[in-house]
Amino acid sequence: MYGRTAALRDFSLTVRRGEFLTILGPSGSGKTTALMILAGFEAPSSGDILIAQKSVAAVPPFRRDQGIVFQSYALFPHLTVRQNLEFPLEMRGMKANDRLAKVDRTLEQVHLKEFGSRMPSQLSGGQQQRVALARALIADSPVLLLDEPLGALDRNLREQMQSEIKQLHREFGKTTIFVTHDQEEALTLSDRIVVMRAGRIEQVDAPEALYDRPISRFVANFLGEANILSQDGSDTFKGGAPAGKVAMIRPERITIRSFAFPSVDLEKRQSVMGHVEEMIYAGPLRKYHVRVGDEVLVVREHVASGQLIFQLGDRVQLSWLRSDVRFLAE
Ligand SMILES: Nc1ncnc2c1ncn2[C@@H]1O[C@H](COP(=O)(O)OP(=O)(O)OP(=O)(O)O)[C@@H](O)[C@H]1O
Ligand SMILES: [Mg+2]
Repeated sequence: MYGRTAALRDFSLTVRRGEFLTILGPSGSGKTTALMILAGFEAPSSGDILIAQKSVAAVPPFRRDQGIVFQSYALFPHLTVRQNLEFPLEMRGMKANDRLAKVDRTLEQVHLKEFGSRMPSQLSGGQQQRVALARALIADSPVLLLDEPLGALDRNLREQMQSEIKQLHREFGKTTIFVTHDQEEALTLSDRIVVMRAGRIEQVDAPEALYDRPISRFVANFLGEANILSQDGSDTFKGGAPAGKVAMIRPERITIRSFAFPSVDLEKRQSVMGHVEEMIYAGPLRKYHVRVGDEVLVVREHVASGQLIFQLGDRVQLSWLRSDVRFLAE
């Protein structure tokens, strides 16, 4: 509780040893709050935190063996980059020579070799963020808590850091709790993903299961693109959803064909006719927006040789396997 705001409700989660767990959710959904409670910087108004079956609710954060990246970086402003990184090592009583080598190695890992003697105020946001990440990694704690640790980086650097983090995890198997609002990042990095919605856990699952079998419209929309088959009237279009549920089909599960040469395997497939309203070319992918009555369905197709390319206004048939339709809570 922050004053009278409950930032988190019914939050119950078991993290497995060595697991890479990502907390994913929109801004304000309680991700940072959850992480701060796990780290011991915020106290829950009720409930407990156990590590290896022992309650740590009363253990202050600095006595816990954890590496942490705060969303705000929280570097020591009066220490150089090097000193920021040495600090956790000094706390552990590591000898000066060993510290030197370790700091060098870690600076290299986050591509900041030349920045050791700068003050945090002399660094860009992305550079500060990498120092924060380095500081969390350097102490070799068995638990890593990372709050949007790559949020300030451009795409290339972000991807490099992602594989760095992934590789470290593979190598050392530290229990890692990673907060992000970037769905792609969550899908590529995690063993399991926790999807947060307004202070509650909406769904917890492995990436592929979560993407393929979201329980609700919220999860389906948050993780990738989702076509909701909701038009009234034709049964086909509703996808045969039971009462209180909506039918959803992912854009890449839809096949697009010219209406003159439609797919006819209608035992296994459902189909609708429409016309192309927009075509977006995105390198390896082509995306079509197809108007079907009052709705627009998104179709995603991998570009391949010999493929028919549809133009605006073309009449097309969309079809998909009935078994690819998912029924979700509204
Ligand atoms: N110190 C605070 N005092 C009052 N309310 C707070 C405080 N910190 C967070 N909140 C509220 O708690 C809710 C959850 O915030 P939290 O920071 O956990 O969200 P988040 O998922 O990390 O969001 P973001 O993606 O923007 O970082 C929000 O509604 C926020 O306004
Ligand atoms: Mg946050």
